[in-house]
Amino acid sequence: MSLALHISRSVPLAPLTTFGLGGPALSFAEVRETSDLTSALDWARGMGLPVFILGGGSNLVVADEGFAGLVLRLRTRGRRWSEQGRELVVEAAAGEAWDDVVADAVARNAAGIECLSGIPGSAGAAPVQNIGAYGQEVASVVRQVRVLDRRSLEERWLDADACGFGYRDSIFRRKPERFVILSVALGLAKDGAPSLRYPELAAAVGASPPLGAVRDAVLALRRKKGMVVDAADPDSRSVGSFFTNPIVGAAVADEIAARAGAEMPRYPLPDGRVKLAAAWLIERAGIAKGLRMGPVGVSAKHALALVHHGGGKTADLLRLARHVRQTVFDRFGVSLVPEPVFLGVAWPG
Ligand code: EPU
Repeated sequence: MSLALHISRSVPLAPLTTFGLGGPALSFAEVRETSDLTSALDWARGMGLPVFILGGGSNLVVADEGFAGLVLRLRTRGRRWSEQGRELVVEAAAGEAWDDVVADAVARNAAGIECLSGIPGSAGAAPVQNIGAYGQEVASVVRQVRVLDRRSLEERWLDADACGFGYRDSIFRRKPERFVILSVALGLAKDGAPSLRYPELAAAVGASPPLGAVRDAVLALRRKKGMVVDAADPDSRSVGSFFTNPIVGAAVADEIAARAGAEMPRYPLPDGRVKLAAAWLIERAGIAKGLRMGPVGVSAKHALALVHHGGGKTADLLRLARHVRQTVFDRFGVSLVPEPVFLGVAWPG
């Protein structure tokens, strides 16, 4: 084992998450080199301990009991830019802050991720849940992902096709025990035009805006919704959207709209199904923005964000999440699916 790897015992995880909730990790190490990662995985295997890879902790719910295994926090750094044909390709180490990658791309006039400005978390976590916002998804620019195979401890590149991307989904999410993401290679359009597919964003910028203006507009929209992590904004102590937007058949969407008895936001998908707005369903089911349930509540700025106001437990958050889910189910017959990763938590419990 390299001297750089230091394994600590009983490390609180709450401060490493945006929720600020949950218990300790039995064992914990920060990883700055891939060689440390293999040593740590090897060590855990020898000890018979499960391993959890932690990025920015911005999409994570940790059990109050904590995690009886080894948590590895990826702190690898580096962004390498190269020109490949018409594309500018950036290979970002997993531990890079995602938004630093976006800011760098925008500064270089490389288009393709400007709408993903202000998303908290690490570059290595971006493909895991295929982050998306304001009309862009990271899957559309991922060219390759460098992974460490957790079984063989060998490194290799996966092409985008092998990542099994879907809406807030990927092979990394479905099979977390299979790979550790080491870096992500994104292909961006050199001097490309910004993407203005999201009406709310298009309305906020003029015609043909520079990438920087799009980034600023996205940051402003996110801030208005409490979706930029900021110590001064109590509504940002969250994981962003707590539930995914439900995808249903067109007939089911019609039925829900009829039950709602109001104009319902709906986004038709190429396969004929319809994506619904979970935030809208939550409000229509009778859960108001700003609702409090002890130390947790619904964001005052966006009904899809659950917020920890301090002094709470993960159990409080789960109680609220179940209440929201049940209320929407009772009203519309739709079972909302949570977006974050749960560590040591059984959902729905
Ligand atoms: N709405 C409400 N009440 C609210 C908020 C929104 O009725 O409190 C309605 C809006 O009027 C709109 C619709 O719901 O008609 C959609 O709202 P919004 O544009 O804010 O987007 P969203 O569907 O709630 C998704 C992503 C966000 C992403 C935004 C913008 C998911 C689960 N969430 O939210 O991603 O930033 O679109 O593209 O897909 C995240 O994943 O953590 C996240 C923040």
